[in-house]
Amino acid sequence: MNQLSEDFQQLTKLSTEITAWCHTFLQTLPQRSVAVLGDPKLAADPLPQASMGTLVAFEHFTRTIAPYLSASAGPRYLGFVTGGSTPAAMLADWLVAATDQNVSKPGDSISTAVELQVMQWLRSLFKLPDHFEGLLTTGATASNLLGILCGRQFAGLQQGIDIACQGLAQANIEVFAATAHASSFKALSLAGLGREQLTQINCLPGSEAMDVASLKMALAASSSPGKIVLASAGTVTGTDFDDLQAIATLCKQHNAWMHVDGAFGLFSRLLPEHQHLTDGIELADSITSDGHKWLNVPYDCGIFYTRHSHYLQQTCSVTAPYLATNVATQSLMDWSIENSRRFRALPVWMSLKAYGRQGYQTLVAENCRQAAALANWIATSPHFELLTPCKLNVVIFKPKVADSEVDQILKRINETGQVFMTPGVWLGQKGIRAAFSNWRTSQQDIDIIIAVLQQVMAQATYQTG
Ligand SMILES: Cc1ncc(COP(=O)(O)O)c(C=O)c1O
Repeated sequence: MNQLSEDFQQLTKLSTEITAWCHTFLQTLPQRSVAVLGDPKLAADPLPQASMGTLVAFEHFTRTIAPYLSASAGPRYLGFVTGGSTPAAMLADWLVAATDQNVSKPGDSISTAVELQVMQWLRSLFKLPDHFEGLLTTGATASNLLGILCGRQFAGLQQGIDIACQGLAQANIEVFAATAHASSFKALSLAGLGREQLTQINCLPGSEAMDVASLKMALAASSSPGKIVLASAGTVTGTDFDDLQAIATLCKQHNAWMHVDGAFGLFSRLLPEHQHLTDGIELADSITSDGHKWLNVPYDCGIFYTRHSHYLQQTCSVTAPYLATNVATQSLMDWSIENSRRFRALPVWMSLKAYGRQGYQTLVAENCRQAAALANWIATSPHFELLTPCKLNVVIFKPKVADSEVDQILKRINETGQVFMTPGVWLGQKGIRAAFSNWRTSQQDIDIIIAVLQQVMAQATYQTG
């Protein structure tokens, strides 16, 4: 018997062993150092020539890889906007691997129907109107790219050019944004529009939100027949929301495509008290959000909606004799960057089934409460200052030290292994950023984080004073 067949025969034993390891890993996550700082490397190890089998490979994993993994799935990893994974989503991800469906063309599996149902459920979760259709992507970066590609197709057609067929060369397209996320610049580069070609719109004073009066002037001054506006529903540092209603009105007047990046900000729609932040989003042409952030499903999972799916189809459609299908269900391969697609809808489906709207409302509300608790403590601390009020789930603050010492304080915070935060720049000022988006975070974690901040500043004061 060869090694593959042997492993297959041993599947129950192997999965029991690996499941037990996962259980311990997850249970001990809060005690683990939250981040492995530096740049851990694997020892030089040539490609194995002979088969060693899964058990031996797993044993190598536990020794050479596992000790150097971050606790990013745990409660005190506050870097970027990192969601954990709910139990239902995590286990469903194993089903994804076991069933190994390719959600490309429909016609041989129910997997496309699952993704389409998930997109309906998410639309309902986010209280978006029925005219939005969409698909799951690899992340908000890919969703922003799809939004820009749809906008590009729309913009081309306004000047008689079908860019999907004829290319960009003759097109005149102008893109406007105030605080576009870094991924949108990447998307502009990928879309051939150029990351340096953005028309920069001013922000409102003391905010990352777009100054709509500035947009109005820029749109009026533009002679481009193809306009795209990139709006934000939750900027990554200040969690500021653009006035989507006003932007939608301007986009209509100036025949511009309106794309909204709500990678995590869209989740504010789960809480009645934050609902107003995204008023007007129903008028957007396309919307980005993320599953691997606040939905707490495993990487990678992004969310994309548009109310003009024909532009998506024109841009992403693919034909070949071997890809033909005779069923009426939408082929997601024709809306997607990739042809072959992971069954990433299943963890979303399982998690929404398992926890429902109420479970997610509680998760989002709890994270916002935790962020507010940390922000309130910082606001009264003699050693720290809040750089902007906490509006949702992100706290951006600064130790009361010279700007040049902020990085050192952040390093010391992270070196405690109790918490992981990342740098942030708020209106030109260096700061520290903590984002809450994990279902496992509790008040006890906030207490630990506050104790770490106190301890680090006490040491810093002792050393300098
Ligand atoms: C507002 C916003 N847009 C886009 C992204 C990119 O998301 P991803 O890393 O999932 O591609 C992020 C990530 O933090 C974000 O906060």
